[in-house]
Amino acid sequence: MAKRKRSRRRTPTPPPSEQVLPGVVSARLPVPESIPRPDYADSGRPADRASRAVRTPDEIAAMRVAGRVAAEALIEVGRHVVPGITTDELDRIGHEAMVEAGAYPSTLNYRGYPKSLCSSVNEVICHGIPDSRQLADGDIVNIDVTAFIEGVHGDTSATFLVGEVDEASVELVATAREAMHAGIATVAPGSRVYDIGRAIEAVAKPHGFSVVREFIGHGIGDQFHTSLQIPHYFDPRNSTEFEPGMTFTIEPMINLGNRRMQMWDDDWTVVTRDLQRSAQFEHTILVTEDGHELLTVPASGEPAEAHVFDHLETLPPSQSDGEHDEQADAATIRTGPST
Ligand code: MF3
Ligand code: CO
Ligand code: CO
Repeated sequence: MAKRKRSRRRTPTPPPSEQVLPGVVSARLPVPESIPRPDYADSGRPADRASRAVRTPDEIAAMRVAGRVAAEALIEVGRHVVPGITTDELDRIGHEAMVEAGAYPSTLNYRGYPKSLCSSVNEVICHGIPDSRQLADGDIVNIDVTAFIEGVHGDTSATFLVGEVDEASVELVATAREAMHAGIATVAPGSRVYDIGRAIEAVAKPHGFSVVREFIGHGIGDQFHTSLQIPHYFDPRNSTEFEPGMTFTIEPMINLGNRRMQMWDDDWTVVTRDLQRSAQFEHTILVTEDGHELLTVPASGEPAEAHVFDHLETLPPSQSDGEHDEQADAATIRTGPST
């Protein structure tokens, strides 16, 4: 029997920033009456998760619109990610971008969630609630935007670097993005749900990073979350075969330390137990006749995730064999204009 290849273990180092603490959550932002709302907008309770996984041609056309609106709102929010801005201000920017496009921000009152997007800073894995906390130089922040328009949802997120970020965090963010794309690349008619998780783990594990299991990708359409489950780890029991017309998200959460998590008292904010950082990227995907299509893309140009590293001189190595690359470790990570 072959010896199983051990993944590289990281020597635990203290997180490069102070623990994230809850701030003040501002009043709920209004959505004009003229904008059509999802079923839960007033009650906070969505209808039971539907199992229908294949969308109609009309729904697919609508999902391209919802995906575009979400992608463009995410780009707009990403432009404003700088040290000193509060996550509450970012929420307002995302809210206004969606409302101006005629969309309802899907997270608003979804199961009682109070804001128009999620902002997950540093050790926050997901579902961070925008509040009065200012982003600090060196933070990483995932912004997760979902838009409801033409009766359907589009869901996308990216993790942004705030100012000058330490090298391990840059490697984490780059790996999370690469893992999402590796998962997406497996999607085609005849491939199976478990192929996605396998591909994601193959990217994350050689870095010594862990993959979150409690939160997974999901079917999406006229409902924000349908019953279709997309784990980001290899689960051989999840052998559902993809067919053209299926729509779902791939949104791996990758942790620098172990995958253990903990929930804040607000019943939303999910953080790592070891307080090491976590990064995530998300797209909404359509299965096509011959592969897949990204639905969460802007009308022109590239999605937000493609620009997360634009201001860096060099990227950390994209390791696949766990070898240590001295050269890349010595590279300078520089942000902002050179002086
Ligand atoms: N956008 C998240 C997802 O990717 C869900 C957020 S639900 C909320 O599935 F209620 F927390 F906003
Ligand atoms: Co999602
Ligand atoms: Co999302």
